[in-house]
Amino acid sequence: MNKEAAKKRIQELVERINYYNKRYYVDNVSEISDYEFDQLMDELRRLEEAFPDLALPDSPTRRVGSDLTKEFPTVRHRYPMLSLDNTYSEGELREFEQRIRRFLGLTASEPIEYVCELKIDGVSISLIYDSAGILQRGVTRGNGVEGEDVTPNIKTIASIPLRIESREPLPAYVEVRGEVVLTKAQFQKLNEQRAMDGEPLFANPRNTAAGTLKLQAPKEVARRRLSCYTYFLLTEPRIVSSHWEALQQLERWQLPVSPHARLCNNIEEVLAYVQEWEAKRHDLPFEIDGIVIKVNRYDWQEQLGTTAKSPRWAIAYKYKPEEALTVLEDVVFQVGRTGAVTPVAVLRPVQLSGTTVQRASLHNEDYIKKLDLHYGDWVRVEKSGEIIPQITGVDASRRPAGARPVHFPKNCPECGTPLKREPQEAAYFCPNTWGCPPQIKGRIEHFAYRRAMNIEGLGERIIALLYEKGLVRDIADLYDLKAEQILQLEGFKERSTQNLLNAIEKSKQVPYPRVLYALGIRHVGETVAKVLAKHFPSIDDLRRAGKEELMQVPEIGEVIADSIRAFFEDEKNMQLIERLRRAGVQLEMPKEERAQSHVLNGASFVVSGTFRHFSRDEIKDFIERHGGVVKSSVSSKTDFLVVGEAPGASKLEKATKLGIKVITEDELLAMCQA
Ligand code: IVH
Repeated sequence: MNKEAAKKRIQELVERINYYNKRYYVDNVSEISDYEFDQLMDELRRLEEAFPDLALPDSPTRRVGSDLTKEFPTVRHRYPMLSLDNTYSEGELREFEQRIRRFLGLTASEPIEYVCELKIDGVSISLIYDSAGILQRGVTRGNGVEGEDVTPNIKTIASIPLRIESREPLPAYVEVRGEVVLTKAQFQKLNEQRAMDGEPLFANPRNTAAGTLKLQAPKEVARRRLSCYTYFLLTEPRIVSSHWEALQQLERWQLPVSPHARLCNNIEEVLAYVQEWEAKRHDLPFEIDGIVIKVNRYDWQEQLGTTAKSPRWAIAYKYKPEEALTVLEDVVFQVGRTGAVTPVAVLRPVQLSGTTVQRASLHNEDYIKKLDLHYGDWVRVEKSGEIIPQITGVDASRRPAGARPVHFPKNCPECGTPLKREPQEAAYFCPNTWGCPPQIKGRIEHFAYRRAMNIEGLGERIIALLYEKGLVRDIADLYDLKAEQILQLEGFKERSTQNLLNAIEKSKQVPYPRVLYALGIRHVGETVAKVLAKHFPSIDDLRRAGKEELMQVPEIGEVIADSIRAFFEDEKNMQLIERLRRAGVQLEMPKEERAQSHVLNGASFVVSGTFRHFSRDEIKDFIERHGGVVKSSVSSKTDFLVVGEAPGASKLEKATKLGIKVITEDELLAMCQA
């Protein structure tokens, strides 16, 4: 590649990566898989290595190892948040003990106590409490020196006390560190929801927890139900003299302490703990990637000190990601309701991390090519921190003679239409939106789904029956169904027929935002549908909105705007909407809930203090109904700080420092009456 071409490609890559980063961390949408994202990063890294003078100073490659996003205020850690050295074997653990003995000048017979804890695979967090026991701040690790203040999100985590109750006075400074995680069960639930919404699935609980902490919408964070386990206490002055006592202190303060911690009297007991959890780890409600071993005595910890990166008194024993070898029996190409075609490997069943694996994700065509996958191949399957198994390699030496390579089909496996590949995207899709059976049935399923039109009794099986009999070809057909038609279906009697018709009838009362979601417009999930309904109180308003106008709405980016435009530009969708309208489906907000104006469109507000005309919730609602956004903390992106009686001093100070306009509630009212 010549320099000119490299420069262009670097720019392109930086733009795309920044875009996906923002979508992931801010808008909470992963438009591409982690794998595809990593590929973009790799390409950028390689180009920057080949042309160092072209590397941009703010290239996303320079952010690796740090989770700072500029979206939250940064805070310097009082004590840096270090990481841990890793070991992978018993031998290395024994060396760790030898190093400690040498360093402390201990003989082989002097006992060393260790505390063993699960190494929870989540996101580290620091919680600062003031001397009155009030939770002041929750800060991410960031780059270890500075982290991001994500307090509003942290406060949604039910197990973190907002106030420490203690009979004795608290130390002047209390900092608690721990890990924020998403349980396996909660992760599964979230992904089921995303599958229903036609959104790409989250890859694993850890990344999802990290992304969730970075959302600018604490309500959404609350909905995701994060958990937290703490494992570290820092106080000034010190109130305990060992780590084990610290854990007990945390427990007395009712902080959620890392479960299954154990005080071990020697390295043999440590090894036993490591072995015990290697087998049992899959039964835990959350994922762990190893064990953390800490020297118990604080005086010894102090003598041992730290290196630039990690303490010498602690180490992580990492479990190898479990893998299994099995045979690739087939590859199926699944067509989703949006037309996206996903390759899925069908495997000879094999035991892995406590479950039987029969299917694995193959991501896309590039991934299949990179593996050089053939039917009948022996493949390596891993579940390293991932709940969805991945094929990570192929043993080409065991390939059966004459094995056929796996090719991505040129035509839709369901309807035969030639597949298309979006330029710059790895995924293929079937463009036969109106004629491809799984797309048609998928849209109807989505429409009937509980959180959409909630048509009870209309699930996958019944929809398939209705489709096969030619009774239903689109969502509007549901409202034309007659009792005699349903009675023809296998298993339907008078009673069940009437029930289904009643359920369909009842769906005409479903409020507009849910109808909008039920239409299944790509990238318009529940949250986006609500936002849209607020700004465009009827489907006609939404249809009339141009791309620019759509993008004025907070949370609506280019991808969503394009997708909405494409939906309305399809004549078939317009016909569907007309038929739904005639059937009596709600296509607008009730008058009293409509947005009052757009005068504050796009402006970002923070409110502080108590108000004369409004409660806290009311003033937020008021701002939102005029098109503004309300954030919980002041940043350079804030446009207005609205102050009432006794506003918070720190918000006021920060706003003044950043030159942000400070207004009263009367001034706000005046702005909206104009
Ligand atoms: S102690 C200076 N204990 O692992 C020691 N860390 O690789 C700081 N982690 O950043 C960490 N479980 O996010 C400690 N029981 C545990 C842990 C734990 C998970 C994470 C933590 C840390 C990373 C280090």
